[in-house]
Amino acid sequence: AGEKTTVCSGSRRHHGTLMAEEAKKLAAYAAVDTHIQNNQVVGVGSGSTIVYAVDRLAERVRQEKLNIVCVPTSFQARQLILQHGLTLSDLERHPELDVAIDGADEVDAALTLIKGGGGCLTQEKIVAGCAKHFIVIADYRKDSKALGQQWKKGVPVEVIPMAYVPVSRAIARRFGGEAVLRMAVSKAGPVVTDNSNFILDWKFEHAQKWKEVNTAIKMIPGVVETGLFVGMAERVYFGMEDGSVKTR
Ligand code: 5RP
Repeated sequence: AGEKTTVCSGSRRHHGTLMAEEAKKLAAYAAVDTHIQNNQVVGVGSGSTIVYAVDRLAERVRQEKLNIVCVPTSFQARQLILQHGLTLSDLERHPELDVAIDGADEVDAALTLIKGGGGCLTQEKIVAGCAKHFIVIADYRKDSKALGQQWKKGVPVEVIPMAYVPVSRAIARRFGGEAVLRMAVSKAGPVVTDNSNFILDWKFEHAQKWKEVNTAIKMIPGVVETGLFVGMAERVYFGMEDGSVKTR
């Protein structure tokens, strides 16, 4: 895919380098301004970058009196939509979305993504799959030639709780590396997703054929979804350190 860079002046810099939060905001604003139009149904992703996109979306809805309906990808996204006074819907009422916007943990040259750093990968993939256009927003740290070069925590895999040990063993046996149960920050127990499941973080050792790997992992009994998004993203906006926005 072709790359394009747009320079945006006036952003906050730290020793000549744009801080990551500012870079997230640049990417989010550029994506919302380019892809959101009146009368759309919009999928709202999860994480910290999407917060800036919802800020901008709410601002545009207010200023331009846009009629926008939002479908969340997590409890966090639902809260964001409500807190910003946006119209909340779901896939029962709106199973077809015009556009979904979401963050990513890593994006490679072919627009394959690792997602699920926040554990919301399953609903994120469902919503993205219902959208005509899936747009990704990220800061420069997520831009990678090959998966694993930037994001070191591995590929998140959502699993049914009773199956986490056999799934972990099956992934390691078949694809190498280690699939580790994600624990809560307090270490008091495992992270539990919005779907009441667990997350394994598969720390792979080398590059793989991601499409095949994604399909194969999904076939293991007990796997709900993987954080590999292959062939889904249509466009990625990276906020760069120099204040520009790079699209791929
Ligand atoms: C949550 C996700 C997030 O979109 C991803 O982790 C990126 O988050 P952030 O914008 O905070 O870097 O996939 O499940």
